[in-house]
Amino acid sequence: MIDKVSVIGAGTMGNGIAHVFAQQGFKVTLIDVSRPQIDKAISNITKNFDRQIAKGAVTEEQKDKAISNITPETDLAKGVADAGLVVEAATENVSLKLNIFEQLDQFAPKDAILATNTSSISITKIGAVTNRPTRVIGMHFMNPVPIMKLVEIINGYATDKEVTDTIVSLSKQLGKIPCVVNDYPGFIANRILMPMINEAICSLYEGVAGVEEIDTVMKLGMAHPMGPLQLADFIGLDVCLSILNVLHDGFGNPKYAPSPLLVNMVMAGKLGVKSGEGFYKHTGGSKDLVVSSRFL
Ligand SMILES: NC(=O)c1ccc[n+]([C@@H]2O[C@H](COP(=O)([O-])OP(=O)(O)OC[C@H]3O[C@@H](n4cnc5c(N)ncnc54)[C@H](O)[C@@H]3O)[C@@H](O)[C@H]2O)c1
Repeated sequence: MIDKVSVIGAGTMGNGIAHVFAQQGFKVTLIDVSRPQIDKAISNITKNFDRQIAKGAVTEEQKDKAISNITPETDLAKGVADAGLVVEAATENVSLKLNIFEQLDQFAPKDAILATNTSSISITKIGAVTNRPTRVIGMHFMNPVPIMKLVEIINGYATDKEVTDTIVSLSKQLGKIPCVVNDYPGFIANRILMPMINEAICSLYEGVAGVEEIDTVMKLGMAHPMGPLQLADFIGLDVCLSILNVLHDGFGNPKYAPSPLLVNMVMAGKLGVKSGEGFYKHTGGSKDLVVSSRFL
């Protein structure tokens, strides 16, 4: 039975993943190369628990218990030494992840499951740098992790069924809804989402409709909670471009070619929420949707 989980990377996703495991009573080691980043993550987790308390979803006592389940660590070898499961959520960069998995294979117990939260890198490729590709799997949480129900579980070419079954049941223990898919570029979530976002950007680029019109059609017509251009701003236009490139390279099909407008916006540093402007203007603290003057 798995009761110790090591989470690699204390960024946006790592702090959410540590939160949900700690809340369910797992002992969590939160590992990052940057100690200030771990401290920031623990402070974010505390704030997110306070929000849950305000909604009556958890008690102060449950929060304290969960926070006490999290141990910060900057030494990867030490941090994974007694893990039953490692969930890697470090920066999305192929060589960085391959290097982390070589180390995990060396330092984590031989029977530990090594999972990655990657959005786009091949699970099979990651598994192949270890001596245990049968125990490597994708565990793709959605942002924000404590709120979003889905875990997309991705079987690499060599992943054992027993490992998949374990990750499915662990995801259920976290109160999530797991969906098992196979390892092809973009898996399912991004293979379907990114072409939709790209098509919205192509429609804007070709002058079929404006930013507000495109998002309104998809919100009101398809009952999507937010339009594809607003969602692209939230995800980050650089992230969207990089995933589209993975689909384009992986399938060799021109239908995945990123819109030239998307490429231009990324080159211009207009990355969406994180840079303050994308299809919309994002002013700190404001919830108003203001279309960027570039598209008026
Ligand atoms: N942000 C999202 O919406 C989202 C959604 C689903 C999946 N993902 C995936 O989750 C992963 C993490 O994304 P994020 O948005 O949390 O990134 P982030 O940039 O917020 O955090 C990444 C963290 O990894 C740390 N890191 C880098 N190298 C490391 C190493 N060698 N060892 C330990 N820590 C290291 C960084 O210091 C940073 O704190 C990526 O693979 C991404 O594709 C992101």
